[in-house]
Amino acid sequence: MKVALTYNLKKKDENKPADYFSECDSEQTINAIMGALEKRGHIVEAVDMGRPDLVSFFRKSQVDMVFNIAEGERGKFRESQMPAILDYLDIPYTGSKTFSLALAMNKTTTKKILKAENIPTPDFQLFSKDGEELNPELKFPLIVKPNCEGSAKGINKSNVVRNKEGLYAKVREIIDLYRQEALVEEFIEGRELTVGILENGKVEILPILEIDFSNCKDSGEYFYSWRMKEFQGNRELGLVPTFHCPARLDKETEERVKDVAFKTHRAVGCLDISRTDIRLDKFNVPYVLEINPLPGLDPKESNFPLMAYAAGMNYEDLIEAILLSAHERERLN
Ligand SMILES: Nc1ncnc2c1ncn2[C@@H]1O[C@H](COP(=O)(O)OP(=O)(O)OP(=O)(O)O)[C@@H](O)[C@H]1O
Ligand SMILES: [Mg+2]
Repeated sequence: MKVALTYNLKKKDENKPADYFSECDSEQTINAIMGALEKRGHIVEAVDMGRPDLVSFFRKSQVDMVFNIAEGERGKFRESQMPAILDYLDIPYTGSKTFSLALAMNKTTTKKILKAENIPTPDFQLFSKDGEELNPELKFPLIVKPNCEGSAKGINKSNVVRNKEGLYAKVREIIDLYRQEALVEEFIEGRELTVGILENGKVEILPILEIDFSNCKDSGEYFYSWRMKEFQGNRELGLVPTFHCPARLDKETEERVKDVAFKTHRAVGCLDISRTDIRLDKFNVPYVLEINPLPGLDPKESNFPLMAYAAGMNYEDLIEAILLSAHERERLN
């Protein structure tokens, strides 16, 4: 196939906040995907979404399929921008469609859908402006998150708050810094899980990945904060979580976790690939935090490939499966 790989490259800019480009992809990831596609015999062109001739490039070049990992340029629905352009040009692409990508970027709207579908998600409140009162039904500790960010942008250990004073200060900070609503959720103490779904001829739920932070105590970090994600593996900082794949769960819990991930994938309308982040509370209730229709695909550092490897696939198998799933869907359309 003639494939275009669409992406937004991670950049360094001293004038931007440290987490500004966290969602974008590294050269390492882009090269790995290109290499995998080429090894499987495809002709690949890498297309940075920021190139000025983006639309005319696609009008001229006759690609069979776009392999899309573009996180988008800016705005609350940025992940849906590349798919929207491709929809407009009538060019098929891998992964979820414009609507699902926009929906998943909005954590609160996604959570409302999860609640309607009886999928457990932490109780929450959305703060649109400073000065709003906390719903007294919500129980501390709470976590404050930007409503429309990924890669744990704006999520640090100080975002877990234990009283109203701390809560209101954090809400104000998030609204000011990220220019968007602040999502306040009950903080689920418990195990961190993430579930990968790959539509590989059939819907395949990959072995669950458990991320254990108990080795990271000296760093002061105890959940998948921005710092933990950004510096994961750094021994000097003590940011060395342990990965268990498959997760250490009894059969019944494993089935329950897989079931909520599958229902979330369907409820949001994801296609080909998704990764659902879950926290398991002390009663083994799997609370869905969010779904990522564009999970990171770094062959060494991202969570999704780890789950594919545990399922017996190699990196090329994973990339080819995503491409073929989209291709098959388009063929049947
Ligand atoms: N309600 C919660 N209870 C416990 N931990 C939470 C909660 N919300 C977020 N976290 C912690 O913060 C991390 C990041 O939160 P979340 O997944 O919502 O953000 P994100 O920026 O969308 O992440 P991603 O990097 O997966 O895109 C979670 O993986 C988890 O460790
Ligand atoms: Mg997450």
